[in-house]
Amino acid sequence: MENSSPALSQIFEPIRADLEAVDREFSRHVQSQVELIPKIGRYIQTSGGKRIRPAVLLMASRLSGYTGDRAILYAAVVEFIHTATLVHDDIIDDADLRRGRLSVHSRWGNDITVLLGDYLYIKSMALALTHDTLDLVRVLCDVTLKMIEGELYQLTKNGDADISEEEHFDIMRRKTAYLFGGCAQIGGMLGKVTIEREQALRDYGFNLGIAFQLVDDLLDYTGDPESVGKPIGSDLREGKVTLPLIHLLRQGNDGAGSRIVRDIIATRAVTPEQWSELLRSLKDHASIDYAYRRATEYAERAKKPLYAFPPGSERDALLTLPDYVLSRDR
Ligand code: IPE
Ligand code: IPE
Ligand code: MG
Ligand code: MG
Repeated sequence: MENSSPALSQIFEPIRADLEAVDREFSRHVQSQVELIPKIGRYIQTSGGKRIRPAVLLMASRLSGYTGDRAILYAAVVEFIHTATLVHDDIIDDADLRRGRLSVHSRWGNDITVLLGDYLYIKSMALALTHDTLDLVRVLCDVTLKMIEGELYQLTKNGDADISEEEHFDIMRRKTAYLFGGCAQIGGMLGKVTIEREQALRDYGFNLGIAFQLVDDLLDYTGDPESVGKPIGSDLREGKVTLPLIHLLRQGNDGAGSRIVRDIIATRAVTPEQWSELLRSLKDHASIDYAYRRATEYAERAKKPLYAFPPGSERDALLTLPDYVLSRDR
């Protein structure tokens, strides 16, 4: 994947001060007399997450003409929700590394991590209720429920080499796209835009979210573990059959590639030889290209609804994000 689009820090430059305020807001709300909570909160916060969801919310609120300070609070709320998902997700996926460090459960154990995730989820909703804006809380509940459904649905499909592309897209929509859509939509709601524009922002975030998850799944085959901050090849070892594999398996069941996939799923382990043969097979069948092409399609689809908004630096920033997502290496 070529790397021609701007760095994230450049795209986020116009909202840098706001993102710093989001971080302060985040710290403020993990304060508790139970010391473990701020301690783990700090651990998570300083581990170098990209803050894409709060940034989308902030940028969408600016594009919608919102100038108040509530966007900071809601941006912190979506990062809380995202963080809660990640700490629980790493238990489910038995993932030891996150953002280049030990995942929370590897460091503090499952008991503490389940409760910390619960704390973050409920805290996010409590924060969202600080203001009298039930419509925003409703959006947040809806997208969070979708995400949990996505994680559950994914579990029911775990280890299933016959998962269809449509089923896989359903998982991605639920576990990732709705939250991205909600972030952009909330930005619009804060700016009290028309219902059409609110929908346009939601479509933007939703399609961006699909592209984001497709690339996340691609990085699990093509990425550099140092940059990604999680080990490569984890999805297949965890039994997750993502788009490149679905494409490969569709080419027929007699090839070496599909045999290896089934072996890895059965044993949940992969030898270096199997891995390089699988990568060769994915290349031969243009399966990586296929998944990347689909990501590009969604990234382009994300941009279109933004043209309902007036041109300017706010719109430009949001328009650059899909290109970043396609070229990202972490
Ligand atoms: C990881 O999200 C989970 C997915 C939806 C793939 P991010 O890649 O946004 O995670 P951080 O916050 O930057 O670590
Ligand atoms: C992350 O999904 C959790 C959600 C998006 C709900 P993944 O399991 O695909 O993400 P990583 O690879 O662990 O970051
Ligand atoms: Mg995971
Ligand atoms: Mg992943």
